[in-house]
Amino acid sequence: MKGIVWDGKEASVATDLQLRDTRPGEVRVKIEAAGLCHSDVSVLNGTIQFPPPVVLGHEGAGIVTEVGSGVTNVAVGDHVVLSTLGNCGHCAQCDRGKPTFCRESLGKLSRPFTCGTGEDTKKVFQFANLGVFSEETVVKATQAVKIPDEIPLPAASLIGCGVLTGVGAVINRAKVAHGESVVVIGVGGIGLNAIQGAALSDALPIIAVDTNPAKESYAKAFGATHFICPDGPDFDLVEAVKEICPNGVDYVFECVGSTALIKTSTELLDWGGTVVMLGVPKMGAEASFVVANMYNDKTIMGCRYGSARPQYDIPLMVRLYQAGRLKLDELVSQTYPLEEFNKALDELHEGKLARGVLTLG
Ligand SMILES: NC(=O)c1ccc[n+]([C@@H]2O[C@H](COP(=O)([O-])OP(=O)(O)OC[C@H]3O[C@@H](n4cnc5c(N)ncnc54)[C@H](O)[C@@H]3O)[C@@H](O)[C@H]2O)c1
Ligand SMILES: [Zn+2]
Ligand SMILES: [Zn+2]
Repeated sequence: MKGIVWDGKEASVATDLQLRDTRPGEVRVKIEAAGLCHSDVSVLNGTIQFPPPVVLGHEGAGIVTEVGSGVTNVAVGDHVVLSTLGNCGHCAQCDRGKPTFCRESLGKLSRPFTCGTGEDTKKVFQFANLGVFSEETVVKATQAVKIPDEIPLPAASLIGCGVLTGVGAVINRAKVAHGESVVVIGVGGIGLNAIQGAALSDALPIIAVDTNPAKESYAKAFGATHFICPDGPDFDLVEAVKEICPNGVDYVFECVGSTALIKTSTELLDWGGTVVMLGVPKMGAEASFVVANMYNDKTIMGCRYGSARPQYDIPLMVRLYQAGRLKLDELVSQTYPLEEFNKALDELHEGKLARGVLTLG
């Protein structure tokens, strides 16, 4: 079968991928659609260090083709959104509603794929416990969440990372309240979902910031009330935000992965304000801030995967979509066959996309 494999130097379409058998507690899924998130790009450029060879892709939706023994939450034929959390579902952290804290959910690498033949056969990792840029994958049953058949799978696929991360950061982690002010820096797939999460929370104003002026129309369509486009290294973002909110804002969501922007984010806060770091800078990167600037009850917080509880949040995102309160179709700027992966990468870099989606069905 086909899939996008990163060999440590380049990403290309492998046609000789094989997938091992489905084990107890696992589910085999035929992937129909998979979004291209910047975290996949970060593997290619070394920002996220992941051992090759690896099948990329961690934002996918598809149809269950086989269930291992003991699996009861999904059945063959079910449409599912896949979650990157390989959490166990029964430890203390899972039980207290914090599956992103499950020790089974992070850093456990799995290699269900192989490529090549004979002596050249190599085991291949699945990125983020998923590897959804492939025609089929196997995941733990807890990673597959059933959705209604009528939800278009390209739209549904984006729930798996971008929507849970962006909306979850606002609602689950920051818990933004009615009328609080929000800045979102970086209007990509993550930032757009932070914007729509802020709109769902009734935040006001919602100020979007992106160096690409083409992102203004996306930002406004997803609920931003203002758009700031820093047009060069001398642009004063603090000044520009304070023209709108003279005392600063209650929340800044950094959705780029820049340590310089994390520092700037602290300078945008009103007293009591919070920076939420969603972007992922290079492993080992350090950020700084002026300590005195934080005295007035300000906070900097990390947030992994929107502090999501996939079994609860994925169906909730679907219901919000069905109720017309969450935009998913509008996130899909372009679809590509697997063979056009590099075109999708180029168009992401050119800033043309909210999300590009690979369609495999
Ligand atoms: N915390 C998590 O769990 C989590 C999950 C998924 C992705 N991420 C991370 O979130 C970040 C964003 O991912 P994405 O898929 O939205 O990326 P993207 O490429 O779709 O969007 C990034 C946006 O940032 C803008 N940008 C770049 N430099 C900027 C600057 N200096 N000022 C303002 N805007 C700037 C770009 O123009 C682009 O619109 C990445 O670092 C990714 O690894 C984190
Ligand atoms: Zn992602
Ligand atoms: Zn657990």
